[in-house]
Amino acid sequence: MSGLVELTDSDFAEVVRVIHSRFGIDLTKKRTLIRGRLNRTIQKLGYNDFGEYMEAVRADESGQQLLEMVDRLSTNHTYFFREPDHIHFLTETAFPSLWGRRVEAGLAECRIWCAGCATGEEPYSILIKLADEYGVGALPAHPIVLATDISKTALETARRAVYPDSRVAAAGNIVQRGYATQREGGEVSISPAIRSRVLFKRLNLMRTSLPFKNRFHVVFCRNVMIYFDQPTRRLLIERIQRHLVPGGYLFLGHSESMGRSVEGFEYIRPAVYRKSS
Ligand SMILES: C[S@@+](CC[C@H](N)C(=O)[O-])C[C@H]1O[C@@H](n2cnc3c(N)ncnc32)[C@H](O)[C@@H]1O
Repeated sequence: MSGLVELTDSDFAEVVRVIHSRFGIDLTKKRTLIRGRLNRTIQKLGYNDFGEYMEAVRADESGQQLLEMVDRLSTNHTYFFREPDHIHFLTETAFPSLWGRRVEAGLAECRIWCAGCATGEEPYSILIKLADEYGVGALPAHPIVLATDISKTALETARRAVYPDSRVAAAGNIVQRGYATQREGGEVSISPAIRSRVLFKRLNLMRTSLPFKNRFHVVFCRNVMIYFDQPTRRLLIERIQRHLVPGGYLFLGHSESMGRSVEGFEYIRPAVYRKSS
């Protein structure tokens, strides 16, 4: 098939409705993106038009087609040490305020959640910073960062943990510091000592109940809500709040900060909040 399959107004409205109701993502201004990205899927799967494709998505009781659709439509842009002041704040202020001078002892129980981790650069940056600060030996051997996303392909990249040299440059000389090994072809592989401390899981943040037994000390949910409308942002923050320990920290992206007044949280600094005790 050649050329683009047409996206009618009603097909567009249907995609926007489904993606918003199931995943919170607001695509009302993303008509071109929807047409471009789903066209490839439609052509690959051999459907004649959007209507046929949407019918198949609706009929698929496994939900697999819907997950593939959101995978195509989600924006997974991220990079190492993005908004680095947050990562410095973690070791300089957040951890000492949680565990005082006994930070190393606190690490044994430390639980961090990266909600919307995309291709893994954010959780690995956090681990590299913790290893720099406290030494790899002080970190517990089990995963201390849970990293979740809705996108299967992003999670595959995250688990593989192989990145082009150009993408890890912002993390400093991580090969020399022992956090990665150099591969042929201009790529580095994040070392097992860092990788083994992150657990990646697929999780839809719009699930009405989140499947966690224990509460987290720190949640990073950065640059995820940019694509959510205001009521959905509030709903997600409320949900996250329930899964934080009292005094635990929430980091949002700088461009999606919720201002100074967020119910249940004390405002600490731009895009950083602390759960009220
Ligand atoms: C732009 S990336 C942000 C990555 C990283 N947190 C950062 O700040 O660089 C946003 C991620 O949120 C994920 N996402 C969007 N809606 C989601 C949902 N309902 N459930 C889980 N993940 C979602 C997307 O798949 C995407 O990988």
